[in-house]
Amino acid sequence: MNANQILLNSRPEGLPTADNFKQTSVELPTITSGEFLVKNLWMSVDPYMRGRMIDRESYIAPFQIGQVLEGGSIGEVIESNNPEFPIGSRVSAMHGWRSHYVTDGSDHTRLPNTPMSESHFLGVLGMPGMTAWTGLTRIAALKEGDTLFVSGAAGAVGSVVCQLGKLMGAKVVASVGSDEKAAHLRDLGVDAVINYKTTKDLSAALKQAAPQGIDVYFENVGGEHLTAALNNMNDHGRIAVCGMISQYNDTAPTPGPNNLGMIIIKKLKIEGFIVFEHWDHYPEFAKQMGQWLATGAVKAEQTIYQGLEQAPAAFIGLFEGKNRGKMLVKLD
Ligand SMILES: NC(=O)c1ccc[n+]([C@@H]2O[C@H](COP(=O)([O-])OP(=O)(O)OC[C@H]3O[C@@H](n4cnc5c(N)ncnc54)[C@H](OP(=O)(O)O)[C@@H]3O)[C@@H](O)[C@H]2O)c1
Repeated sequence: MNANQILLNSRPEGLPTADNFKQTSVELPTITSGEFLVKNLWMSVDPYMRGRMIDRESYIAPFQIGQVLEGGSIGEVIESNNPEFPIGSRVSAMHGWRSHYVTDGSDHTRLPNTPMSESHFLGVLGMPGMTAWTGLTRIAALKEGDTLFVSGAAGAVGSVVCQLGKLMGAKVVASVGSDEKAAHLRDLGVDAVINYKTTKDLSAALKQAAPQGIDVYFENVGGEHLTAALNNMNDHGRIAVCGMISQYNDTAPTPGPNNLGMIIIKKLKIEGFIVFEHWDHYPEFAKQMGQWLATGAVKAEQTIYQGLEQAPAAFIGLFEGKNRGKMLVKLD
């Protein structure tokens, strides 16, 4: 049988364009002993994939031109010669950007039977949710009564950070790129929301939203957001540096914040993290998050593009603010 797949066609300069991607068809081998055939149902697009499109050393290998792209996926086993993955099993893997594939299952996880959509294992119950939980609990050690500032707050990670912040007893201040996203976060219980696109002075807006100062900053955006946060941090504040999406498409080095001296003056602790280094804590997270989802204490948001051919548009949309919650592609 043939599989459709999307390759990296060329390395983006600045914001990726459709030309950087190429859809092809490939004939799949017949499954042999121990192997199975997966039909993908869902795939994830994530901001970190932009870093993998650059040919440089990082915590994860770069994509190569002509190589099928990779990313989180959920699929269904439709033919099997592997008793651990019988026909009908739902599996998660890093085999997105393709309709079908053959595997021996070595890097696959069988998903539990659950009444909720399996797509949540790519979002709130998967890597982004785990990132939110890790940053708040293991990196920033958020406490009841803290004031938490979250940038990129309506996205896959940010929307979970906001909700967990409220559950953990913090005052939550958020920054997003549209009034519609701001209204939605207020509905979720966020105390104050800034639309950074219509705000002239982010530091002043943050001071107004959090006159008592910021104890924890969950950094998703970088640049001006980091400058504004540093200006408004309280003494001994903590910054969990998760991402800096405002810089991922930069074609030249971005000037740093001009107020790094605040780190000394305010005795700040700033720590970057990569969620995969904390994956041994996934069972603890999944148990807690499963309960929060079941009781409705956390609401899972998704923005869904339909069809493999829409995957490049969904990916590019991350840098244009097109998603609320987790950006996903549902395969036909
Ligand atoms: N350290 C880790 O292990 C780890 C794991 C997962 C994710 N991350 C990082 O966490 C951050 C959020 O990831 P995610 O998966 O949750 O993505 P996401 O927030 O669901 O999607 C990206 C969002 O970022 C905002 N954005 C895009 N360009 C921006 C810019 N120039 N300035 C300000 N905001 C911008 C947009 O929202 P607006 O409409 O609000 O602009 C967009 O919807 C990213 O930086 C990502 O790299 C890190």
